[in-house]
Amino acid sequence: MSVLRRTRAGAEHAPPPPGVPVLEVVDVSVRFGGVQAVSDANIRAEHGEVTGLIGPNGAGKTTTFNVITGLEQPSSGLIRLAGEDISRLGPYQRARRGMARTFQRLEVFGSLTVRENVLAAAEFRKGWSSDRRDPQKVADELLARVGLRSVADERVHALPTGLARLVELGRALATRPRLLLLDEPASGLDSTETDALGDLLVDLAADGMAVLVVEHDVDLVMKICNRIHVLDFGRIISVGTPREVQNDPHVQAAYLGTEDPVGEESP
Ligand SMILES: Nc1ncnc2c1ncn2[C@@H]1O[C@H](COP(=O)(O)OP(=O)(O)OP(=O)(O)O)[C@@H](O)[C@H]1O
Ligand SMILES: [Mg+2]
Repeated sequence: MSVLRRTRAGAEHAPPPPGVPVLEVVDVSVRFGGVQAVSDANIRAEHGEVTGLIGPNGAGKTTTFNVITGLEQPSSGLIRLAGEDISRLGPYQRARRGMARTFQRLEVFGSLTVRENVLAAAEFRKGWSSDRRDPQKVADELLARVGLRSVADERVHALPTGLARLVELGRALATRPRLLLLDEPASGLDSTETDALGDLLVDLAADGMAVLVVEHDVDLVMKICNRIHVLDFGRIISVGTPREVQNDPHVQAAYLGTEDPVGEESP
């Protein structure tokens, strides 16, 4: 492990008091017209852990992320960050309190370089926090950490999707989150890149972050997650360790070990 990989990306956020998770999704429901996308979902993500959120296509995973980050309003329920009800805060206020995410459908500054994407986030953070670290230095450290140093000067729209996802990850990390939400981060990565991503997410959690990951690569999820929540038709049908979830008959019926193509990418 290099010196850079030891930088503490989430270090300035003290862990919440014992027993208080970094993230609590409490009884959240979301309705879009006639579609009940999420029903009474309860999810926790803990400091120092990688938490998985898995489920078939259309189960409500991205909608749940949108509610957590304030892009969608739930029909009922609330979101707590380190014990505080943040349900009424807008997305940017949640970001300043230590929430960062990546998107299933990439949201990058395509005409900027890889380095400029990460630097922009580091500059924003300097503007809203008391962190006086040099944004250029922060960006360079993070590019090394996510494995993008060799393409730092490439424009992002010229990169393959998998690498562009890593740019989003680097940009999210530049805000030094306490809670990191990743929506299908391994989509578009090859197996070597996926392994490196898995190691990085485990390291980030160990450094003092709560990582919540939506991912269709079940092998990856089973390898890196401390706990997993399974969504099916908007309902949490199982919560537990990878082994517990894998052996849960409800999960097997709904998702794992069936003909449902869990490794398939979303449209
Ligand atoms: N803005 C919207 N308006 C109406 N329906 C929506 C909207 N967003 C999502 N839905 C519906 O809500 C349900 C959950 O969608 P969501 O995108 O959250 O699923 P997902 O678990 O992320 O699926 P995938 O694995 O394909 O990404 C689906 O039936 C979807 O069609
Ligand atoms: Mg989705």
